[in-house]
Amino acid sequence: MRIEIRELQEADIEALAEVEAEAFSMPWKKKDFQGLLEHSYCFYLVALADGHPVGCCGYTNSCGEADIDNVVVARQYRGCGIGQAMLRELIARGEAGGVEAFTLEVRVSNAAAIHIYEKEGFRAEGIRPGFYEKPREDAMIMWRRK
Ligand SMILES: CC(C)(COP(=O)(O)OP(=O)(O)OC[C@H]1O[C@@H](n2cnc3c(N)ncnc32)[C@H](O)[C@@H]1OP(=O)(O)O)[C@@H](O)C(=O)NCCC(=O)NCCS
Repeated sequence: MRIEIRELQEADIEALAEVEAEAFSMPWKKKDFQGLLEHSYCFYLVALADGHPVGCCGYTNSCGEADIDNVVVARQYRGCGIGQAMLRELIARGEAGGVEAFTLEVRVSNAAAIHIYEKEGFRAEGIRPGFYEKPREDAMIMWRRK
């Protein structure tokens, strides 16, 4: 399997909306991804397996603080290192572009995601009670600071 990680393109959106629908109870739709391409403060990467989009991650940059708002890998491609590789590339590209700190929220039960965030230097700094719906759950707030 050949894995490539590059910036999001319009042609990736259809497949990524399917990955989202499979992974989340409140998935991003095609129009949500299209909005990203229109805003210079949004930066998104896509992972391709043999040329087909199987995951994405990205952030919204506000004054040097990047809020990572979506990290996902299609179910059958999980556990192969794609999630961590995307995250590492996102951080490298962000820092090269002047991002000073990264933050994100994650369900407190999402052990796999918390594991890759911790491996990439994120630390828990707080809890947002009842942040998530479907099902309702607390969010862990994590930061990666220089
Ligand atoms: C979180 C997610 C993006 C990770 O993607 P991935 O490609 O499977 O990640 P990787 O293969 O790079 O790494 C997975 C790591 O999690 C670990 N892991 C898997 N299940 C785990 C669990 N239940 N508890 C702890 N660690 C776990 C794996 O062992 C691996 O770590 P290792 O490389 O140190 O062995 C993927 O699981 C996903 O899309 N989940 C659904 C969407 C989601 O929850 N996104 C996060 C929103 S904040």
